[in-house]
Amino acid sequence: MKYLLMLLLCSAVFAEESFITEVEYGEMLYNNPRGIGCIHCHGKHGEGTLIASYKEDGQKVDLRGPDIRRVPLRKLKESLLKRHRVMPTYFLTDKEIRAIFHYLHQEQEE
Ligand code: HEC
Repeated sequence: MKYLLMLLLCSAVFAEESFITEVEYGEMLYNNPRGIGCIHCHGKHGEGTLIASYKEDGQKVDLRGPDIRRVPLRKLKESLLKRHRVMPTYFLTDKEIRAIFHYLHQEQEE
């Protein structure tokens, strides 16, 4: 009986999980994409944010993650597959990149 109850509970939890929308899945990946979260460098919704400030030859330099809310899907994929100087390289599937794309573009789609 105890096991049956556990089994029922587990399947309820899994069933619940499959109800998340693609946008929610995209938000999850955006915050925690098997690597450093995009959120740290591109802000909560992709609006961009200050990563660090430092001095170079006596001049203050701001290092910023750019606004990526209007980046088209093709460019998002390109960006995630190539090597950058600051931004890490990710190993995300097409489906995952598409979900992040929908999360970043949700307000423009409504
Ligand atoms: C450590 C900081 C950092 C993290 C984490 C990071 N980025 Fe970036 N990203 C940058 C910086 C800095 C640039 C601009 C310079 C460059 O291309 O490296 C950039 C550029 C981009 C661009 C290109 C924007 C343009 O207009 O050319 C896209 C798209 C992008 N990031 C998406 C993402 C996504 C999605 C994630 C998470 C999976 C992510 N980034 C994680 C720092 C970061």
